Amino acid sequence: MNETRETIRLTVEGRRKLTPTITEFTLVPKDGRTLPSYDPGAHVTVQTPSGAKRRYSLVGPGEQPGRYVIAVKKEPQSRGGSQSMHDGAMEGIELLVETPENEFPLKDAQKYLLIAGGIGVTPIYAMARHLADRGKPFELIYCTRSAEDAAYLGEMTAEYGDRLLVHHDDGDPEKIYDFWDHFAEPQNMHVYCCGPKPLMEEIKAISGHWPEGRVNFEDFKPIDVVRSDDVAFDVKLAKSGTTVTVPANRSILEAVRDSGVPTVSSCESGTCGTCKTRLVSGDADHRDMVLMNEEKDAHIMICVSRARSGDLVIDL
Ligand code: FES
Repeated sequence: MNETRETIRLTVEGRRKLTPTITEFTLVPKDGRTLPSYDPGAHVTVQTPSGAKRRYSLVGPGEQPGRYVIAVKKEPQSRGGSQSMHDGAMEGIELLVETPENEFPLKDAQKYLLIAGGIGVTPIYAMARHLADRGKPFELIYCTRSAEDAAYLGEMTAEYGDRLLVHHDDGDPEKIYDFWDHFAEPQNMHVYCCGPKPLMEEIKAISGHWPEGRVNFEDFKPIDVVRSDDVAFDVKLAKSGTTVTVPANRSILEAVRDSGVPTVSSCESGTCGTCKTRLVSGDADHRDMVLMNEEKDAHIMICVSRARSGDLVIDL
């Protein structure tokens, strides 16, 4: 997990099915103490029962909370993160959770437009609650495939009434919501958007003429590839028989690539799984968000992971 954040052990106190694919988890400390506070838009990194780490936005009020509430969508192509939460994070189980971070903070503004698509509703709902509690003017647009797929729809309809505009597209690209009227003229308000990539790309495309900083997106940053306390180590490439030195400020992937050995990669931030390589021997410091616990003895994601001590031998 992130080197600078405290990791706490939380128990799954409750699970609530919000939609056929989205489940809410309530996480509490064993001793009942207060958890670190957070502002709306914050997320926690959770080590799921499979060992894969995932970031989830916090839904509940963040002042001296006694619990953290997250909602997890079961992704059909999940490689152990969301699937593992749904199948393994049962009531009573303990999870390692990093203290909250916020890369999507609400700035002070006169007026707000909140836009949520699908599971992107989690930080947006936290923002709406925060603004409503403080009497700040906002409108909320919530787009999902259908009412059945819309987490927290009942609560938000009851709480926000005509400030909430709900749109269902039945999964039909022809029926997606037309945001243009909201963005044609730059307005004196701040926009916060979280949802699937196509939704965020659409809003980015139609808001290019708005002043900088007015339109904000929840875009989880990739994990740090190298850290300030990293040191150099050697990696022996079992197939080619060569040894490559990985400098303190380079990844294994970069060092191997620099040596002329072909590599495959995509995200280069430990999230996609493309660079998975067999670990022949060595003590690896796994920093990816992909590998399950049972894979970690024999595999390494070379775009982010390093040696914990000594050298590594990998199957390249
Ligand atoms: S390239 Fe995506 S996990 Fe390494």
